[in-house]
Amino acid sequence: MEYFAVTGGHPLEGTAAVHGAKNSALPILAAALLARGESVIHNCPDLTDVDTALEILTCLGCRARREGRTLLVDTSCAHGTHIPDRLMGRMRASVLFLGALLAREGRAEAGWPGGCALGARPIDLHLAAFQALGARVRDHAEHISCRGRTLRGTRLTLPIPSVGATENAMLAACGAEGVTILQNPAREPEIADLQGFLQAMGAHVEGAGTDTIIIRGGRPLRPAVYRVMADRIVTATYLCSVASAGGEGIFTGTDGSHLRPVLEALTAAGCAIRREPGRVIIRARRPLGRVHITTGPYPAFPTDAQPLLAAALAGGVGESTITETIFDRRFRYVQGLNTLGADICLEGNTARITGRPLHGGRVTAPDLRGGAALVVAALGAEGESRIAGLHHIQRGYEGLEDTLQTLGASIRTVQE
Ligand code: UD1
Repeated sequence: MEYFAVTGGHPLEGTAAVHGAKNSALPILAAALLARGESVIHNCPDLTDVDTALEILTCLGCRARREGRTLLVDTSCAHGTHIPDRLMGRMRASVLFLGALLAREGRAEAGWPGGCALGARPIDLHLAAFQALGARVRDHAEHISCRGRTLRGTRLTLPIPSVGATENAMLAACGAEGVTILQNPAREPEIADLQGFLQAMGAHVEGAGTDTIIIRGGRPLRPAVYRVMADRIVTATYLCSVASAGGEGIFTGTDGSHLRPVLEALTAAGCAIRREPGRVIIRARRPLGRVHITTGPYPAFPTDAQPLLAAALAGGVGESTITETIFDRRFRYVQGLNTLGADICLEGNTARITGRPLHGGRVTAPDLRGGAALVVAALGAEGESRIAGLHHIQRGYEGLEDTLQTLGASIRTVQE
């Protein structure tokens, strides 16, 4: 068994860089399929989910290699249309290759996507978008098949602003003749990053970040050189780590511009935060005060950051509340936090957190952000914690242990 051994209660201090965004890198890697030739993608984090995306590309006939933080993806020889179940099952974002394959090859076949078990995570909106563009979609119990040699631009309104469905619709629409008008899309910054890559490839896409995205499709695209934006959830993780343990951290490679609700919540809890070009600085004095937040689609408080904030608040004082509106099983981390001494009660989709000092304990990451939350809590807890289930955490954090050590945390990986 492999686990993090964390001895908490020491303030953090120092400077660390934030790596590129997983949730940008994955759709951008799928988008690379839309051109023939070699795209160069800088600031691509070294994560198991990115490895899975590279395996999918390789399975489809691409050549992909990593040079440090840069990925070189040559799609010249890509010909495959089928994504094996073992790769689909590893992460949710595998589903984005369906839209890209439809645009490139006019067909795509795959099993159902995996990913964190955060509750029901249907892909009906993705498939409805393909159908609206003229694809024939068959979804069986174990298999999805999409066919559409001649996709046509259309007007499409998403009933909820799903991030993945927005990205899939953008990718497929690039291969559709004519104009696609996508209304009520997700407005997350990673969508704008995907749009930036598509524009660098020569695609006519505009409107990401607003309530309408317009795609003029059907043109040949060229490979592009692009730099992935910084990971805002990783930034939130480091900020919450300092908030939990106390101390002062400077995080570079980001200016925190996409994290307004997280910065506001930490400020309301008593942290001093300063944004400067290319960096965010946090000074935290324990204990944190109370905060009330509700998650929602961007620009509201991100669901991915709520476990991290909960972990920091759990060791504070007063009663905080976190209401989750996106995923019904987002609170699976609560049991682990309570094992570390937290007092968190769940009432429907609201977690009521009564702040109190935390202590060490043995816990297991339930999913990616829930696992990171346990680390955040352990950094602020007295004594040693053991956090197992590291494969969840490795899906979204490159060098978490090294970065926290740089800040003076006592954390190491133990194999038993
Ligand atoms: C993406 C992020 C994930 C983040 C989430 C919400 C990636 C790789 N993952 O996930 O980290 O937590 O956005 O910010 O970018 N829904 C449907 N039908 C669909 C699609 C979604 O009902 O076809 C529902 C979901 O169940 C959920 C809500 O829409 O309740 C939002 O999900 P969505 O925005 O699609 O999340 P993901 O793209 O899966």
